Amino acid sequence: MAGLFEGTLINGMALKNRAVRSATWAGLAEPGGLCSKKLMALTEELACGEVGLIITGFAYVMPNGQALPRQLGIHDDAMVDDLKILTRRIHKAKGKICMQIVHAGAQTVMKERKDQPVWGPSAVHDKVHRKTPKAMTQREIKEAVLSFARAAGRVKRAGFDAVELHGAHGYLIAQFLSPATNKRKDKYGGPIENRARFLFEVYRGVRKTVGKGFPVLIKLNTKDFIRGGMSEKDALFVAKKLDTMGINAIELSGGVPAAGALGPARPKIRKADDEAYFLSIARKIKKQVSIPIILVGGIRSFKVASDIVKAGAADMVSMSRPFIREPHLIKRWRQGDRKKAACISCNKCFGAAMSSEGVYCVVERRAKTKRKKRQKG
Ligand SMILES: Cc1cc2nc3c(=O)[nH]c(=O)nc-3n(C[C@H](O)[C@H](O)[C@H](O)COP(=O)(O)O)c2cc1C
Ligand code: SF4
Repeated sequence: MAGLFEGTLINGMALKNRAVRSATWAGLAEPGGLCSKKLMALTEELACGEVGLIITGFAYVMPNGQALPRQLGIHDDAMVDDLKILTRRIHKAKGKICMQIVHAGAQTVMKERKDQPVWGPSAVHDKVHRKTPKAMTQREIKEAVLSFARAAGRVKRAGFDAVELHGAHGYLIAQFLSPATNKRKDKYGGPIENRARFLFEVYRGVRKTVGKGFPVLIKLNTKDFIRGGMSEKDALFVAKKLDTMGINAIELSGGVPAAGALGPARPKIRKADDEAYFLSIARKIKKQVSIPIILVGGIRSFKVASDIVKAGAADMVSMSRPFIREPHLIKRWRQGDRKKAACISCNKCFGAAMSSEGVYCVVERRAKTKRKKRQKG
């Protein structure tokens, strides 16, 4: 039985423990998608906090694939030099770093997109983002596939240890997978074998570019949790197929923005039973694939995290919000302070990331201000 602090391997990438920082957009990139010094420092802090594998916030593979302001880009060779500094700093701090790559499709709030085509598998209106994408032509699908492959090449050149495809949370790959957003009548629509074609082409393109020895991961939904969305059965098909195609690990998540409280970052995780909210489906998928499974979603306590790993329900556990509040959570647990993560899952950090300051824990900052006031008074 593996423990949380036991090392592991993903396609030759040696990790010192089973804790992953799930991709977290920080709203800290420079204009044009370049990596900033502030983002480097935030990421380095996670490595110092002994996170086994740090996954960057999602980086867009094409300019019209950007979702959010001050998001990292990997759409151009000009991104590589600054990212090399980032990966060197993480390696110096004895960390491992993976870049998550994305095309947002219709899920964008970017003003710049007004003069750029918003792409999607079909022209289905996205109520949350208030966008109706243009149904992609087969030529545009090829262009997107090529952009993912080129982006992965840049990830490797920039010195990252791995690349993760963002196939979850309703972004372009997930829009193709979901019957709610994919109404196509050609070979990219219809049964899951067709809806997954875009993802499989992206994976093949990426693999061809980075070679067999480079770790390629995917973040995939267990289920979309909306009527007519991607089902558990679809997720199982995709996971099994990617396993046979040679992907190296699957990070299992779930939900889309339209799912509200059943979205990827659920609120109100108060007791152990509320934690690890994708565990039951993840367990079923884990049983049917041979590659490592990483589980994300609401993991907050040491016991829940280590029981998941010990029971073999997943090979690794992944967290996002707990590390915004406590970048040194894993080090704290390893040193013996096993109190649960201080994050109360209020989701106020999303608003902070939207501000020009970039992501921070709003609750922690308020608590600090109160403490200071009390000390003064
Ligand atoms: C501020 C913020 C930014 C996020 N950015 C990303 C992202 O870039 N890519 C992604 O796959 N998920 C992103 N997520 C979702 C998390 O990776 C994770 O799946 C979700 O928050 C559930 O995990 P948690 O309960 O440990 O926070 C983000 C979450 C937060 C709070
Ligand atoms: S604002 Fe702080 S406490 Fe609230 S979810 Fe974000 S990290 Fe957790």
